[in-house]
Amino acid sequence: MKERGNFNSRLGFIMASAGSAVGLGNIWKFPFEVGAGGGAAFLVIYLFFALVLCFPVMTAEIAIGRKAQASPVTAFKKLGFARWSGVGYLGLAAGFLILSFYNVVAAWSFGYFFEMLQGHFEISQHFSEYTANWLKIGLYSLIFMSGTAYIVSRGISHGIERAAKALMPTLLFLIVGLIIYALTLPNAITGIKHYLLPDFSKITPTIVYSALGQAFFSLSLGMGALITFGSYVKKDANIVTAAAIITFTDVFIAFLAGLMMFPFVAYVTQGDLTAMSAISGEEAFIFETLPNVFNSLGPTLGVVIGSLFFLLLSFAALTSTISLLEVPTAFLVDEKKVSRGKATWTVAILIFLIGLPSLLGNGASAFFSEFIQFPNSTSPISFMSMVGMIGGSTFLSVGGFLISVFVAYVWGKSNFELEIQSDNEGTIGRWLKQYVQFAIRWICPLVLGIISLTTILDIYFGISLF
Ligand code: TRP
Repeated sequence: MKERGNFNSRLGFIMASAGSAVGLGNIWKFPFEVGAGGGAAFLVIYLFFALVLCFPVMTAEIAIGRKAQASPVTAFKKLGFARWSGVGYLGLAAGFLILSFYNVVAAWSFGYFFEMLQGHFEISQHFSEYTANWLKIGLYSLIFMSGTAYIVSRGISHGIERAAKALMPTLLFLIVGLIIYALTLPNAITGIKHYLLPDFSKITPTIVYSALGQAFFSLSLGMGALITFGSYVKKDANIVTAAAIITFTDVFIAFLAGLMMFPFVAYVTQGDLTAMSAISGEEAFIFETLPNVFNSLGPTLGVVIGSLFFLLLSFAALTSTISLLEVPTAFLVDEKKVSRGKATWTVAILIFLIGLPSLLGNGASAFFSEFIQFPNSTSPISFMSMVGMIGGSTFLSVGGFLISVFVAYVWGKSNFELEIQSDNEGTIGRWLKQYVQFAIRWICPLVLGIISLTTILDIYFGISLF
């Protein structure tokens, strides 16, 4: 069989996986979910889910991939449980759906980078016209998808690992720089307080689901992205501690994104609490409000800070689109024996086409913009939001549930234990390993099962149990 490729080092794997995790989810979505969910109150629930529930699932995914040395569909078969390959197909479907809309938001960000470079701050007043300009956004999204496909087509160590090693340190550098700058703005401390002081009255069951959904999405779990990446990890690498580092990095960068964003929020609202609450819960905050912040910094500084911000966002998105494209690519390579180059470009084109309704459904086409109304919402949502709900929330939590059941009760405790054992564990490593083994049997299946069920009942049937 032809060489599938490998990560050169454990660090390379960690960086690529952290790159997959850190994305629009952290920088675009996380701060406003925090804003809507009572600041630190949301943060606490989010942290709880990430560390208690998601970290074990992540270890489980990596273990499946490394043991089977294959991407999800093939992996379940190779482990001897062909019937479970359905979970792999569910993941594939999730990957197609997520990347199809994710690439559109990535295109907005990438386009804003150029707008900021040219000092077009007034774009913030025309955001809906901007997203409705399907030709322009279509072009950006074509460029973004091609860049992603180019990197993925170059393979694991030459493409994915190399890109992550260049982009991740740059990203950290940019975000720290922007935080330092944001903290010098007037009212920064008011913003930080708004971020870090909990308001527990905002916590509702919906907020709890969305914290779990956000944690799953942000950590790239539930669709086999980490099964796929895990299949390129060497046998002697300690995957428990790797998963811990990836989880920590992702949570940490989301936390940093909040530190960057809330001073900006406080700055535009001049520290007005009511205005701050309203604005920080806005999904379009980054695109509709931030450019005003940059504008007020004056022509030179505004262009520098504004374009660096959207460059940061685009880099974060790129390391994520890479992992999303890798999953179906690896499926074609492993399962259908297609060459990597051909597989990558085929999938990229297909997903770009599936993304067209999402592209059009942001103002260009009324039909796709107000596409469907779910029982639990009061107004119709766009095609893109629908795809996000199906692929980005429902499939991921169901996938995560099935993966934990599989590892705990089908593949089995001892196989899992063998795969996550390592020669150089250390005390903390041993504790983490024991925790993972406990959680994957007793906590993850139960909690993920309940939450998947309640989410499905709530979104699609309008039945809320709590
Ligand atoms: N985690 C990324 C983000 O936060 C998105 C992402 C990349 C993803 N790969 C994934 C989500 C796989 C789910 C599954 O933006």
